[in-house]
Amino acid sequence: MKILVIGGAGYIGSHVARMLADKGNKVSIIDNLSTGTEENLFADYDFYKGDILDYSWLVSIIKHGFDAIVHLAAAKAAGESMIRPEKYATQNLTGTINILNSVVEAGIPLIVFSSSAAIYGEPKYLPIDEAHPKEPTNFYGFTKLEIEHLLEWYDRLKGIKFAALRYFNAAGYDIEGRIQGLEKNPANLVPVIMEVAAGMRPRLEIFGTDYPTPDGTGVRDYIHVTDLAEAHCAALSHLAEARQSFAVNLGSERGLSVLEILQAARRITGRSIPVSTVGRRPGDPAKLIASSAAAKRLLGWKAKYSDVDTIIATSWRVYEKHLA
Ligand code: UD1
Repeated sequence: MKILVIGGAGYIGSHVARMLADKGNKVSIIDNLSTGTEENLFADYDFYKGDILDYSWLVSIIKHGFDAIVHLAAAKAAGESMIRPEKYATQNLTGTINILNSVVEAGIPLIVFSSSAAIYGEPKYLPIDEAHPKEPTNFYGFTKLEIEHLLEWYDRLKGIKFAALRYFNAAGYDIEGRIQGLEKNPANLVPVIMEVAAGMRPRLEIFGTDYPTPDGTGVRDYIHVTDLAEAHCAALSHLAEARQSFAVNLGSERGLSVLEILQAARRITGRSIPVSTVGRRPGDPAKLIASSAAAKRLLGWKAKYSDVDTIIATSWRVYEKHLA
């Protein structure tokens, strides 16, 4: 297939693009390189540098003729979204509306969208399945939920078939070690810990130690980015075959606390990783764990690389290389 990966130079997009190309697809990439990096681009891709907010430019690229779009271009820091909602409204909502409208103009029938566990908000029960109430507690999650609603309407009215992939906490780096680009100004736990281990920032701030969890720190379902890339490939194949829209959770179905990740990182990197404890971050639930039963049933997909050691070891390999 000819596939356009929007946001393909970014952290998750680069892993997805590499795997799609490895499976024999022709991959083109759009990225504005605001958070993505050229280091993540490979010679077998066609690369178009530009912004999804530039509608006429976007249409001119999308009209090249693609079989499917994978859309991963978004701002993703849940904490920042509560302080700068206007940035998230524009980049995530306006950006996606531009993509959807240009997809309609170009007549592209299939789209795979990076959604998020953030659409569920505070869990009413665990593990979280796809039927769980959707009440986001941060603006970032709200934008992802609104985009899912837009996709449902464009399916109904324009026949665009979509897969909404609700990622839990993406982490780790390419199992084969090919993706080397570091995230710029990361806010997520694992890259922050890696930066501390690498001496790029002084300490990890632990956001709250008084949660109702076994060790008092937040528990999340960390999913290895290579597992995510495999899920995108499976989702695209399923979409192309069944021509029916769907939404699935992508998680490991296991919870890890901040302290468990920290301990694994100290052990694997051999670095001390200083920490300080600060208050809770607004909008952070205590515990999130996915049910990925639907992804298993529909796509035959299951996390393979999402144990804490593989997540930390594949991440540290990349940060260590940058240090050297
Ligand atoms: C959030 C979203 C998630 C989304 C991701 C994208 C929610 C509830 N979740 O994940 O759906 O895919 O952003 O970026 O909105 N922590 C620290 N110190 C730090 C950083 C994080 O203690 O410096 C803690 C957090 O409090 C949390 C855990 O580590 O308990 C993971 O945080 P983070 O990596 O930021 O991801 P989420 O907020 O869970």
